[in-house]
Amino acid sequence: MNLEKYEKRILVTGGCGFIGNHVIRHLVNKYYDYLIVNFDALTYAGNLENLKDIENYENYVFVHGDITDFEKIQETFEQYQITDVIHLAAESHVDRSILNPDVFVKTNVLGTLNLLNAAKANWLVFPHSLDNHRFHHVSTDEVYGSLDLNPENKFKETTPYQPHSPYSASKASSDHFVKAYHDTYGLDVTISNCSNNYGPNQFPEKLIPLVINKLTKGDKVPVYGTGENVRDWLYVEDHAKAIDLIFHKGKSGETYNVGGNCEMTNLEIIKTIHILLNPTGRVPELNTVIEFVTDRAGHDMRYAIDTTKIKTELGWEPEETFTTGMHKTIMWYLTNKEWMEHVTSGEYKNWLDTNYKDRK
Ligand code: NAD
Ligand code: DAU
Repeated sequence: MNLEKYEKRILVTGGCGFIGNHVIRHLVNKYYDYLIVNFDALTYAGNLENLKDIENYENYVFVHGDITDFEKIQETFEQYQITDVIHLAAESHVDRSILNPDVFVKTNVLGTLNLLNAAKANWLVFPHSLDNHRFHHVSTDEVYGSLDLNPENKFKETTPYQPHSPYSASKASSDHFVKAYHDTYGLDVTISNCSNNYGPNQFPEKLIPLVINKLTKGDKVPVYGTGENVRDWLYVEDHAKAIDLIFHKGKSGETYNVGGNCEMTNLEIIKTIHILLNPTGRVPELNTVIEFVTDRAGHDMRYAIDTTKIKTELGWEPEETFTTGMHKTIMWYLTNKEWMEHVTSGEYKNWLDTNYKDRK
């Protein structure tokens, strides 16, 4: 492979996951002069099927690698002369973190540290110029904790960190390491803290695809607590565009909050999905399928993002409304039933058993 012909050779971690596959598709289609190296361990959440449409692109390669394995990262940096990193690989599900926190520390904290060390070792070496390398870290709004229901209150970039779940604690820790490598070693970093994403290819452990899957099968929909918790929903392709913009135009050392300006309670989400699925003629009455179950431990009440900074500094705004985004999402799940069958066979059944069996 002639690496020299590529202006940038970007290591994208976690590209086989939900958000990662949209980021990769966006980048390979937009930047023919970049080589996109997808580094993914293919955990239960990683799926090569998500990238079938672009797997033969000339400017795309897949590396089966684990971010907890420093040698493999270093080998990949050398093999592809990596110039930049966009880091998404993570354990991402709050409920799994409650049941098994250790792997969240291993992947999200130690894995991120390995990547930072590889970037430092390869880029901060004379005569390389520091200006030509960027490390973009994809993080979450959950690091800021939970909001009350006052609509005036939203997460700003200056909101102090107050994570509650092992997942958000591990993401908060990784954010601090990324900032520390900027402040201590001068690594060129940017961080994005984003709200809840939805869209095609999301693994059905998360609320929206879980509800679509349950309703299309006529199964009960498990609602934690009262169903009044609020999330700020963003269509995944809008997130991919925000990451592109921050990676290229964001100021080094800065954090940018990304959100959908779309606050909904979980019950509102479930009702919307039910309405959109109704024309298929196969969904049961909603009140017969909703099942209120034991709440998530430490369940954050509300997330909402103040997007002023990314809007004023970088000109980013979500392009999809909740209506257009949800239509696209439902259509995708209805026309990709095989995908759902593949990802729900095997390990997924054990997960449903582990997470839901003892909820009353
Ligand atoms: P996901 O769980 O769908 O995908 C994670 C991907 O990372 C998978 O492909 C998996 O195989 C890979 N991976 C996991 N452990 C790995 C390891 N040790 N080495 C290499 N690869 C590994 O996650 P997602 O929802 O796409 O989230 C991606 C990123 O965005 C995460 O960092 C998450 O914290 C962040 N984020 C997610 C959301 C959301 O709503 N989903 C919102 C804000 C931020
Ligand atoms: O805010 C960004 C975060 O959004 C990301 O960092 C996480 O990776 C991502 O998983 C997501 O976290 P949430 O915990 O908000 O998403 P989840 O889809 O798991 O849950 C959304 C809401 O739905 C939450 O209030 C819990 C509730 N819920 C979830 C499940 C799986 C239910 O009521 N029943 C369920 O079965």
